[in-house]
Amino acid sequence: MKQILLIGIGAGDPDYVTIQAVKALNRVDVFFVLDKGEVKQDLVDVRQEILDRHVDRPYRVVEARDPERDRTAPAYAEAVHDWRRRRADVCEELIRAELADGQTGAFLVWGDPALYDSTLAIIEDILARGAVEFDYEVVPGITSVQALVAKHRTSLNRVGRPVQITTGRRLAEGFPEDVDDVVVMLDAHNSFTGVGDDVQVYWGAYVGTPDELLISGTVGEVGEQIVATRAEARERKGWIMDTYLLRRKP
Ligand SMILES: C[S@@+](CC[C@H](N)C(=O)[O-])C[C@H]1O[C@@H](n2cnc3c(N)ncnc32)[C@H](O)[C@@H]1O
Repeated sequence: MKQILLIGIGAGDPDYVTIQAVKALNRVDVFFVLDKGEVKQDLVDVRQEILDRHVDRPYRVVEARDPERDRTAPAYAEAVHDWRRRRADVCEELIRAELADGQTGAFLVWGDPALYDSTLAIIEDILARGAVEFDYEVVPGITSVQALVAKHRTSLNRVGRPVQITTGRRLAEGFPEDVDDVVVMLDAHNSFTGVGDDVQVYWGAYVGTPDELLISGTVGEVGEQIVATRAEARERKGWIMDTYLLRRKP
């Protein structure tokens, strides 16, 4: 039987890699890397640094081109579904062609595999198709959400209160009801600017990396500063990954 490991590597700082992840990394014969193009080269570099630092046995790295998502398609869910199917095709071929029976392959997943990441779903899709057989395990990692609140020295929830994790796309439809603490990920459009001036925002970009940016205050105080900082950073580096916690008065 082939063995696949989905290893959460944390959301930026190579020191976020857990001891369990290091043990898992040292069971791997072949690492599969989906290359997202030059703008994300920094992310590939972090993965390589983790392997250089923590793996002390021979291994192979096999790279494949990550299929592009059609960001212009009007039907969002269909476009994501199509993208996932094409990624599953690529991953299935990697597992079929590059891994022998009895060997262990791994996908290094940014942050934690359970949070806004499609690798787990893709692995399940491939198994459901039935063309290749393998067993798989998930190794958890430090998410960007944990890294963000740690850097801001704040908690995710308030005493006995719920917290919700959502996307910029959802926040743009309105502040969620029945919850006052909301973490927003995958926001390409500064959706926090519409939530009200007295909402507290804890914002972070490239958290845990040398480019890390952190800003906090009320939206009224720091909203424009975040918009400007975000635009400047995106222009300078060519890509941005940012997350924020919004906290309104109950
Ligand atoms: C596809 S999701 C992957 C999340 C990842 N699995 C995790 O556990 O954090 C990508 C989003 O995560 C957030 N993100 C990931 N790494 C980050 C970092 N170092 N700093 C700030 N936000 C980050 C951003 O909101 C980005 O748009």
